Amino acid sequence: MKKILSLLWLITMGIAAHAQNGNFVKLSTAKFSTGNDAAWKETGFNDTNWKNIKVGDVWQEQGYSDYHGFAWYRIHVVIPSALKKQSVWGDSLRVFLAHVNDVDETYFNGKLIGKTGAFPEDRGGYVSKWPAVRNYCIAANDPAIKWDQENIIAIKVYDGGGSGGIFMGAPYIDMLEKFDGIVFTQTEISFLPNAQSVRKLTIGNSFKTNITGKFHYRILDEVTQKTIAEKTLNANLPPLRKETYTLAFPHREGIKLYYEFTETASGKTKTFAEIAPYLLTPKASLKPMINSAGVLGVHPGSPVLYKIPTSGQKPLKYMVKNLPQGLSFDPKTGIITGTAPKAGNYLVFVSVSNTLGKDEKILTIKSGKLLALTPPMGWNSWNCWGLNVSDEKVRLSAKAMVDKGLTDYGWNSINVDDGWQAPSRQSNGEIVPNEKFPDMKALGTHLHQQGLKFGIYSSPGAKTCGGYLGSLGHEGQDAGTYFNWGVDYLKYDLCSYSDQTAGDTTLFAQQKPYIVMRNELAKQQRDIVYSICQYGIKDVWKWGAQMNGNLWRTTEDITDTWESLYGIGFSQTNNAAYAGPGGWNDPDMLILGRVGWGENLHQTNLTPYEQYTHMSLWSLLSAPLLIGCDMDKLDEFTLNLLKNREVIAIDQDVAGKQAVRVINDKQIQVWVKQLADGSKAIGIFNLGEKYSKYTLDFNKIHMGKVKIVRDLWQQKDIAKNVAAVSCIIPPHGVRFYKLM
Ligand code: GAL
Repeated sequence: MKKILSLLWLITMGIAAHAQNGNFVKLSTAKFSTGNDAAWKETGFNDTNWKNIKVGDVWQEQGYSDYHGFAWYRIHVVIPSALKKQSVWGDSLRVFLAHVNDVDETYFNGKLIGKTGAFPEDRGGYVSKWPAVRNYCIAANDPAIKWDQENIIAIKVYDGGGSGGIFMGAPYIDMLEKFDGIVFTQTEISFLPNAQSVRKLTIGNSFKTNITGKFHYRILDEVTQKTIAEKTLNANLPPLRKETYTLAFPHREGIKLYYEFTETASGKTKTFAEIAPYLLTPKASLKPMINSAGVLGVHPGSPVLYKIPTSGQKPLKYMVKNLPQGLSFDPKTGIITGTAPKAGNYLVFVSVSNTLGKDEKILTIKSGKLLALTPPMGWNSWNCWGLNVSDEKVRLSAKAMVDKGLTDYGWNSINVDDGWQAPSRQSNGEIVPNEKFPDMKALGTHLHQQGLKFGIYSSPGAKTCGGYLGSLGHEGQDAGTYFNWGVDYLKYDLCSYSDQTAGDTTLFAQQKPYIVMRNELAKQQRDIVYSICQYGIKDVWKWGAQMNGNLWRTTEDITDTWESLYGIGFSQTNNAAYAGPGGWNDPDMLILGRVGWGENLHQTNLTPYEQYTHMSLWSLLSAPLLIGCDMDKLDEFTLNLLKNREVIAIDQDVAGKQAVRVINDKQIQVWVKQLADGSKAIGIFNLGEKYSKYTLDFNKIHMGKVKIVRDLWQQKDIAKNVAAVSCIIPPHGVRFYKLM
């Protein structure tokens, strides 16, 4: 939870998600004080000596750079009675406060109107709720409101670490209209065999009043801009009820769906648009296909756990020859276990068969210094569960990873992020999990039994970014604990360690905590992948490998918007030289599927085009692939994105050469990745807002005639013996090819 987000993102979030009604009053400035005093909520309190602060930007950017803890905002605002008079419904006044880092309690002229999160003194302790949007309401006839006079909105805020205050949006006051209660939810989409898709959409009434209006939808072909179908229907929604609508349209790329609900009394319209999801990856073959990169890095003498990822109709029968001494395998599960042999390269012959056929591959076990010879692939709890992660959720994710066939494609690590730690250590200093994780060792064993790896999270600071216990002063002890629990992966996140380096701008100050943990991990006879997370400070890509890092975050936290994806993904232009087998640039986790950081879980805000771009770009970048969604609710579209063996093979290519941007031509970018077999993977990206035509002359990427151009998403050869390729690319979309 780094919580310092790009300005661009703040602006779009503010506008897209929270447009105010016609008449509104901006809440742009407040009186501000750090500290905490219950008297500060009172209307009569004299705050003339308090400083002014801008409401909507974190206080760290406004002169309180190192402050964490309590603070109060007192917003003085005259609320014109015209607001009420001009409102059609006239029911309630809304106070929109955007997001708050991390907890708030809000008073309107001394009256409590809302609270989100929990303060440290609350029962159960501190709970950050920064991702939640604060929309508090007060009845328009409440005597607490002083129309045409000054009102005081007093907000008690607690910042548990990272940034603090009201942020990520422009707060305001307005009157609610009935149409504000309308909620569109895309419940499901089905892809029918006859090239048709069916979308189910519900329109919900979230208010306790009847809402009457008209629902209009339009299905548009984005390429030709022609309307395929449209219809207007009467919609009468009783209080808190919803209505489901079913829309059918062609199953292909380029279909845009527009939804509008116009409320009768106010005439106001709520709109919503989406690009219809479409599947590009063909159905997998029922014959066995080994989807492994074919290399495995282990440390001599360490325990080995490796499941041979294979798709195809079950049951599969595995056969392995030339396994080095100390290792054995299970012919039913394809899981190799045992102790890593002495240093050297071992060529193991793997064969997997079922009643329909068989597949064979050489697996090279490289026993030596390096782990993660290809980028790690797995799941991490953060983008979905945030601090609400629990043993149960982790087990469900593991189950889904296996049941939904993701393990067949190489997804194999289940990583618990922040939020697992108990509030204090044992008397001997040992770290223990909180009540949400009854037994960490048992969890590790449970994962290992299925051939899955177990990842954990800590910080070199006293506190993690979420305010949980970090490893400061206990690094050796914690590494030992991870060993005991069977941990295979540690994400080590800078967070509050920045307090230790305050004022020290040297490179060594940044490296030190990572050296300390590196040395402690090296003492454990266990292969623990080391994930360095410090957001790219001091060009970590240049020295991450010296820390024995297997991956290092190159940027701030990602979130599920195009601005974030664009800002992070397309800026990875200066670090390619530093990535390779054993150490990878990490542009952060995937934002596909149902995400939400523990709050308001929702289907990713990326369009389907952007999602194809995301997977293609991350694969070109040799990025670690960590799914960040609710695995239990994985939908067909997302699974289709995550189970394309040819796309994954680009990410997992054994040469480990990160793609470079070769063309940056207005809205078009071409990224090229050199592959181990001599061929190249290319992504032609359209960063514009409209469908775009593009012809790529292979000279421009230093290639002549190409024997085969293969479309990786469709797993289909699209041209032979050509010197150029022409394509039409959707907005924010990609054409992802292999040139052979
Ligand atoms: C952030 C980190 C996130 C997540 C979070 C946990 O600093 O970048 O990926 O781990 O902390 O609090």
